[in-house]
Amino acid sequence: MCISGVCAFYSIEEGINFARMIGVTMFKLLFVLPSALFFALMPQQPATPDKPMPADAATLVNPVKSTPESQAHAKTVYEMDCAMCHGTKGNGKGDLVADMHLTMKDLTDPATLKDMSDGQIFYIIKNGKGQMPAEGDRSKDDGIWNMVIYVRSLEKK
Ligand code: HEC
Repeated sequence: MCISGVCAFYSIEEGINFARMIGVTMFKLLFVLPSALFFALMPQQPATPDKPMPADAATLVNPVKSTPESQAHAKTVYEMDCAMCHGTKGNGKGDLVADMHLTMKDLTDPATLKDMSDGQIFYIIKNGKGQMPAEGDRSKDDGIWNMVIYVRSLEKK
């Protein structure tokens, strides 16, 4: 018999029933908890709602001049934040491509970025596009402009 959670057992049978009830609850928890955890920890879809690029984004002029230091920094950031999809050399063969079913272009092919302005590339890196996450929260604008120079330098001359 239980009164507000405090149980006294009048018989062995009642005790056994109570133990069984607790057992069943624990047993159920064993299944419910991991699946709840799984859903809680499931990777979120990158939050990149594809809003159309504002017309003036494309006409922005790159305000930074590249230096060996800024390009060395861009390379480090690229290898951390971009290479897993675009590939270390930019060939579009990063480790995540198969798992995420990505369709990648080859940044080492001069044709890939030929018709994109610096402003367009800046906008994509800053805001993300489709399955590509935004870099905007992690890098300052100057860093992103240096990244534009860096991704252009990946093409095979
Ligand atoms: C999760 C994988 C992923 C990561 C990480 C990623 N990208 Fe992308 N990127 C993509 C995909 C997919 C596209 C094509 C998007 C589209 O057109 O829908 C793309 C497009 C681009 C484009 C436009 C040209 C093209 O290839 O379509 C540039 C430039 C670019 N990414 C640079 C970067 C840079 C720089 C970083 C790191 C700061 C980065 N990306 C991180 C997946 C990724």
